[in-house]
Amino acid sequence: MSSSSASITFNDTVRALQWSERGLRLLDQRKLPSVVEYETFDNAKGVAEAISSMRVRGAPAIGIAAAYGAVLAARQRYRENPDTWKEAIEADLAKLASSRPTAVNLFWALDRMRSEIEKVNGDPEPHLLKAAFSIHDEDIAANRVMGDLGASLLVGASGVLTHCNTGSLATGGYGTALGVVRSAYRQGVVKIFATETRPWLQGARLTVWELAQDGIPATLIADSAAAYLMKTGAVQWIAVGADRIAANGDTANKIGTYALAVAARHHGVKFMVVAPTSTIDWRTETGEDIKVEERDQNELLNEYFARSGSVITAWNPVFDVTPAALIDCIVTERGIVRNPDRHAMKVLADAR
Ligand code: MRU
Repeated sequence: MSSSSASITFNDTVRALQWSERGLRLLDQRKLPSVVEYETFDNAKGVAEAISSMRVRGAPAIGIAAAYGAVLAARQRYRENPDTWKEAIEADLAKLASSRPTAVNLFWALDRMRSEIEKVNGDPEPHLLKAAFSIHDEDIAANRVMGDLGASLLVGASGVLTHCNTGSLATGGYGTALGVVRSAYRQGVVKIFATETRPWLQGARLTVWELAQDGIPATLIADSAAAYLMKTGAVQWIAVGADRIAANGDTANKIGTYALAVAARHHGVKFMVVAPTSTIDWRTETGEDIKVEERDQNELLNEYFARSGSVITAWNPVFDVTPAALIDCIVTERGIVRNPDRHAMKVLADAR
């Protein structure tokens, strides 16, 4: 049995999730960068709450957290009644599945754990923990492959812009789009720019913190400075992650991704989506069918207006959908899909 926390390498030292005998240790991402604090969760309800409150966030990371949540649920339900635990655990899996709606990795990981649950005889923990470790380790391995593939596209570029946080904090480790940035940095290339990513500030609080931990220099910009940055010619590529990719290549990612893709096309800047195949939802035909999460308006409203009685409200969709036609390539661990559309995506699907 392997444990992912062992696979820390140079320029990749942060881990958002760690398994311990007591349960799942999560780095509380709401408190970064000023407070670095891990909390251990010993039951599935706590893990579901940690996902919905965004202690842990990022599509692959919430899938991995849910897999460990299923292990904790099995431990508890088997102790309660070894004869009925497989029925009882369904409520826990449903709770984990309802924690956030957009990132398909959550549902993918839970489906995978459910199929392992069906195979178990006797104490489920050793078998399910092995499955959760596999999900975790495969994610890191996929990220390293994608990092090098994506970085090969950046050869000759002088600058790259990334959005949100797609690094070790958002995955099992290394990161998707930020993995490409890490690999590109190792190649000795490119100036790295990161957006603030309002309103939750994944860029300003998480991405630049994570890069600083690993000694990778980066320049933070306000979201609203992105088009102007492109106009200056400082970046030739934008690299983003994904929360769900539809079967035609339409991609849901952090709010603001669509605006970046529109501006990139206008300025002749190339646009790269980096995501493991666990982020592709083959059952979702187009981006129109992707449920976009809307979070509490108070994440956005100035506290002055958040007071009750104010006539001011806020609309807070936290993802948007970028049409495949605006994406130059989707980098996966199985290869690069150039000019993604239904046909190009099907070639990737058939290579499974
Ligand atoms: O709301 P978040 O912080 O969970 O959103 C995260 C993103 O949108 C990331 O870009 C995406 O999950 C890819 S992370 C490798």
